[in-house]
Amino acid sequence: MTKVSIDPVTRIEGHLKIETEIEDGIVKDARSTGNLFRGIELILRGRDPRDAQVIAQRICGVCPQSHGVAAALCLDSAFGLGDKIPDNARLMRNLIQGTHVVQDHILHFYHLAALDYVDVTAVAAYQGKDPELNSVKVFLERGELGPFAPRYEGDYRLPVEVNQEATAHYLKAFEIRRTGHEAVAIFSGKIPHSVGIVPGGVTDTPTVDKITKFLWKVKKLQEFVNNVYLPDVLAIASVYSDYLEIGAGCKNLLSYGAYDLEGDDPDLTRRKRLFKQGTVSADLKYHPLAISSITEVVKYSWYEDSSTGRHPSQGETKPAPGKEGAYSWVKAPRYDGEVYEVGPLARLLVTYVAGDPVVRQLVDWALAELKAPVSALFSVMGRHLARALCAKILADNLEKWLLELKPGEPTYTEYEIPDEATGMGLTEGSRGALGHWIEIKDKKIYNYQAVVPTTWNASPRDDNGVPGPIEQALIGTKVRDKDNPFELVRIVRSFDPCLACSIH
Ligand code: FE2
Ligand code: NI
Repeated sequence: MTKVSIDPVTRIEGHLKIETEIEDGIVKDARSTGNLFRGIELILRGRDPRDAQVIAQRICGVCPQSHGVAAALCLDSAFGLGDKIPDNARLMRNLIQGTHVVQDHILHFYHLAALDYVDVTAVAAYQGKDPELNSVKVFLERGELGPFAPRYEGDYRLPVEVNQEATAHYLKAFEIRRTGHEAVAIFSGKIPHSVGIVPGGVTDTPTVDKITKFLWKVKKLQEFVNNVYLPDVLAIASVYSDYLEIGAGCKNLLSYGAYDLEGDDPDLTRRKRLFKQGTVSADLKYHPLAISSITEVVKYSWYEDSSTGRHPSQGETKPAPGKEGAYSWVKAPRYDGEVYEVGPLARLLVTYVAGDPVVRQLVDWALAELKAPVSALFSVMGRHLARALCAKILADNLEKWLLELKPGEPTYTEYEIPDEATGMGLTEGSRGALGHWIEIKDKKIYNYQAVVPTTWNASPRDDNGVPGPIEQALIGTKVRDKDNPFELVRIVRSFDPCLACSIH
């Protein structure tokens, strides 16, 4: 038995350690450890409920808009505003969150994951005129390889020209992400933490000038997703097609659904949304979601055992550093007692099996390009493809939502803070199902609980000893070279973990 430990896992957000036990080249056991406690749920206690909107966004600097939306929906429901949010505000929240998420998917693919497959050193042989590639070449000649090295070696398969072109796209992606940030800031005031989304609606108003500026930037994002991002993912997936068979994991997928369409049902579990709410398992059947079946367990997490097995509305965060047998600061969310993966793959497949015609056509087209069945999406490349397809679906809808805005109509509803109330906010962050729960007493936050996408995916074992989604995806993997375990990091990065979020 050989132990292979990766600590920290780089090119992800935050502090993640992966430990594996390998026998005859196969991963027999895996543990995923979140290493940094933060305590934002505890900071929120006793404060004005409106503070949750501002402070909960600080859970993450990568995906704050999604926390902003989750917190706003949570406070809307606590304040009795679920059916009173003006249509302009619904659309502007969609635009702020959606544009940020498209930018975030581009960030993940190019700046975090692609370097597992793209060999930047191929630029050393570049003979063309692209000034940016030539400046990369100069760095390579000087031996200044950061941030591209050190890295695991031994499995770079793309032809030299494809590596060079993909490196040019790596650089171009920075520019496009800036354009995405600029668009988000038009309605959200600033980046990363939005001041535009508030309970009751949004703070800004749409004008023809702002809509035009936003539209022009969205067109650039859309063009990049369609002509660069999606083709690059398909090209890499076809060369690394064995990664359509690696890292399947638990094959249970869960989505809260996101991006409210028309309608204002105060019950967040019944809203009409662009990405649908539900679960899907290996048999590719759709099941509606019962929010009451969600629990967080902590037997293997550094929290007091008395808080295990609670629904998030009754959840507790009682740190117990050094607790015997525990190995992570991440709690273990479970649905109906079972392990579920969340993320772009989940929201795409849930929407697919729910029968959305646009999503069905898009997914079937992409899989035909790869000559792969739907079940191949349960894999490393499946997750990358799902992320790119989710980016495309969103980018296509951003334009639509912009044109539905009505200048001159309201974007905000007045409210009073209730003495006592409970609230729930459910959305999909870039990395998956995101839920916030609040309990208000004496007009103050009595309890605030967040169950975040990477809390699901990077969770340790549950009270029954069943490993979490990333752990399950690693177990059974063949590792060719224990000194260069690129299979392991490729699997972990396909989940796009955000550890700051997962522990919060
Ligand atoms: Fe939490
Ligand atoms: Ni995050």
